[in-house]
Amino acid sequence: MATPIPGVRGIAALQTADAQQVRQLEQVLIACAEACGYGEIVLPMLERTELFTRSIGEGTDIVGKEMYSFLARDDESLSLRPEGTAGCVRMAVEQGWGVRRPARFWYAGPMFRYERPQKGRARQFRQFGVEALGMAGVEVEVELLLLCARIWKQLGVAKDMVLEISSLGDSTCRARYRDDLVTFLRGHQSELDEHSQARLETNPLRILDSKDEGTGEILQQAPSLLDYLDDEARSNLDTVLALLDGHGLEYRLNPRLVRGLDYYNHTVFEWLTCTGLGAQNAVCAGGRYDGLCERLGGESVPAAGFALGLERLLLLQAAASDGQQKASATAKLYIAVPTSAARARALLLAEQLRDLTTHVGVITCLGDASLKSQMKQAHAEEAGYVVLAGERELAAGQVRVRRMKDGEEELFSVTEPEALLQWTGNLEKS
Ligand code: HAM
Repeated sequence: MATPIPGVRGIAALQTADAQQVRQLEQVLIACAEACGYGEIVLPMLERTELFTRSIGEGTDIVGKEMYSFLARDDESLSLRPEGTAGCVRMAVEQGWGVRRPARFWYAGPMFRYERPQKGRARQFRQFGVEALGMAGVEVEVELLLLCARIWKQLGVAKDMVLEISSLGDSTCRARYRDDLVTFLRGHQSELDEHSQARLETNPLRILDSKDEGTGEILQQAPSLLDYLDDEARSNLDTVLALLDGHGLEYRLNPRLVRGLDYYNHTVFEWLTCTGLGAQNAVCAGGRYDGLCERLGGESVPAAGFALGLERLLLLQAAASDGQQKASATAKLYIAVPTSAARARALLLAEQLRDLTTHVGVITCLGDASLKSQMKQAHAEEAGYVVLAGERELAAGQVRVRRMKDGEEELFSVTEPEALLQWTGNLEKS
């Protein structure tokens, strides 16, 4: 026997029930985004590595150690996308989106990061993201946050979500802050955890995000980025907060909120949860990234967006509903075929039933299984009804239909699939 080939660590297939939940979740997300005028964009999964180095930033963990990059046959370095914003902005630059007319996009699909897999953290995971291009007003950030809040409400997880928000100011405020932060931290260098010591050279702002207790204590005394905001940045933040207050949306101002991607300026935010996710408690994150279009060779276009992790949202939903969360399964009709002679007739009946309804899954057993194991399979499929296409019944031009919940049976003529569907309550009204 050949050796089985294991899947790749941190990259899992989705089984039917999970895939159904993902699809249902995406439908809610899409409906909410489209209600705010976002339209779908399908982004490539593979991009030139340079796109991510230039946008997410060379000193970030994502670019430094988490990308799946390789040389293609023509020796060009390509990477599987670790996120969607860079690809969306690259296309915006190509198409001129947001330059003359604002544009709003949503996207959904797999992203790839070589991280240490754990609960809520995978190497292939799904994001749902939205990007609003060409709008300078801070109302955009507020609209994005209200969209998130609407999504949490629709999904029944609003009470489990906490919004953290801050401002990174513009690059000038950030550079001044960075200098002072580095000076402060150098004074405590030996007390910092190892990872933060290394970051002092590469990406000192990310030290603010350290989970290490000792480093956390030192950071209590560190200068606050909010004190370095210029008048415009401070007033933008104040306006966002006042608008959120006006909408009754609660938030926690967190001056130590720095994002793991370099393209942000001004407003940044994260939605965290304390339910069911352990250390991976960020469900959704985003902010404004006004300079990115220019950095990628386009005109200056104001922009903001967010992305949420579907797996994390599903874990949260399951925890919030005490594991009650279950995809509402499609109604299923199982056609049991006890003899090979009846298979062709069963195939025809299945097609006739499918012609009459798209709401029911019609499953036909086309293998050699015994009637007993077919009934077992019908149970496993959670079929509401089993159509028994036995030779005796077919000889009389009939099939027997059993309602699985109470065992009640009815005979139907094979020429009347409508009557059969009507009895099962699945005939679509035309
Ligand atoms: P991000 O914070 O890197 O932002 O990712 C957004 C969300 O993706 C996270 O909050 C988390 O739910 C999910 N996520 C990230 N990494 C993993 C992982 N390894 N496993 C499972 N879930 C994960 C961005 O990607 C930005 N592009 C967001 C954005 C859009 N900003 C502006 N527009």
